[in-house]
Amino acid sequence: MATIQLKTEVPGPRSLALWERRKAVVARGLTTLHPVFLERGEGAAVTDVDGNRLLDFTGGIGALNVGHARPEIAKAVADQAARLTHTAIQVTGYEPYVALAEKLCALAPIDGARKAFLVTTGTEAVENAVKLSRAKSGRSAVVCFEHAFHGRSLGALSFTSRARPYKFGMGPFLPEVYRLPYPTFYRWGLTPQAALEQARLRLAEFFRTVVAPEEVACLVIEPVLGEGGFLVPPPGYLELLRAETQKYGIALVIDEVQSGFCRTGRMFAIEHANVQPDLICMAKSLAGGLPLAAVVGRAEIMDSAEPGALGGTYAGNPIACAAALEAIAIMEREKLAERAQRLGEHLRSRLEGLKERQPLVGDVRGLGAMMAIELVKDRATRTPATEETGKVVNLARSRGLLILPTGTYANVLRFLVPLTVEVAQVDEALAVLEGALRDVA
Ligand SMILES: Cc1ncc(COP(=O)(O)O)c(C=O)c1O
Repeated sequence: MATIQLKTEVPGPRSLALWERRKAVVARGLTTLHPVFLERGEGAAVTDVDGNRLLDFTGGIGALNVGHARPEIAKAVADQAARLTHTAIQVTGYEPYVALAEKLCALAPIDGARKAFLVTTGTEAVENAVKLSRAKSGRSAVVCFEHAFHGRSLGALSFTSRARPYKFGMGPFLPEVYRLPYPTFYRWGLTPQAALEQARLRLAEFFRTVVAPEEVACLVIEPVLGEGGFLVPPPGYLELLRAETQKYGIALVIDEVQSGFCRTGRMFAIEHANVQPDLICMAKSLAGGLPLAAVVGRAEIMDSAEPGALGGTYAGNPIACAAALEAIAIMEREKLAERAQRLGEHLRSRLEGLKERQPLVGDVRGLGAMMAIELVKDRATRTPATEETGKVVNLARSRGLLILPTGTYANVLRFLVPLTVEVAQVDEALAVLEGALRDVA
């Protein structure tokens, strides 16, 4: 039986009524892509307040790799909430925090002594990784990337690279932040090998003309750009960055907030490269949808802040820790990384077929199940089809598929579906997507 079951138009009358209430009291700067109000979720399916069953390929922006409302996580949360809801790790200890730190240190693809520290959001994880790198090195400069997204606080916005809407009117931002181009062979119109060579030249020039490497505390990079459009760097690029950062004592900070926890077919995307980072930022799917994030890395950097310098009232809340321990147990028990690999292969072959039939699709790319298609007006010029992408998203929603655009030009459709999705559900979603692409074209 098909997953999508529509009883009303989408959004239906109850969603629309809630939308009117929302508009009156919620700040305008917070937008909601799909004006649909959800009541429950299961796996990759959600039910809205009008009783419509929809396929959710947005996965809470990648926070639901284990699926919606897992009963095991619900139980872990309920048990923990009934025992101890909150204290504050700066005041007293509790075992789930320590157990999760042990688990994350064990999972981190780094040799030698490792330590962890928990926060609440991906934004804080990135900011704290930068703070620790500065404290360790005594240097101030931070190198980040064009098209990157690292969060919306004033610190993280300084490393984020989208002028509108995120940064507009919000400055000034942190000084001593420098940007490199993120090498992308599709947008640059190059082969991966040529893109790597160009990136190598640009990096050498950057350290000569923009900032001296001896002044750089850390280099922060997403191993696959998330909000930047699911761009995968050319093979060898992360290895190049590792060699250069090692040469100059620069901490290599890998932002795995969107790519982590099995999405790319490994626990962390960086495991696809022959690279050991210094610090890893984790969030989103870490706790199956509960607010929790972490910085995990080499002990000598993690220990560089003075006692008392790190923390947060809710940072590493016991309920979120209990959820994370259960979410990671599910990932291991259900071999979600392997599942993501297979899902990615299925998605890739189906999307390549879609590209052959639908001229709007200019590129199919990704790593494991972190897959996306880029929509273009014209394949030769690669002109972004931004307006058409918005129409495809809205049409797909009206037919029961929730999907999320991404990319600097909002012309990339990304698949952040729970990794537990069934193959029949993927095929059902892709049939809806293809119909929308055809009708919009
Ligand atoms: C790569 C990356 N880093 C950081 C963040 C910020 O995480 P949060 O929204 O949890 O603060 C995001 C959020 O989308 C992200 O994708």
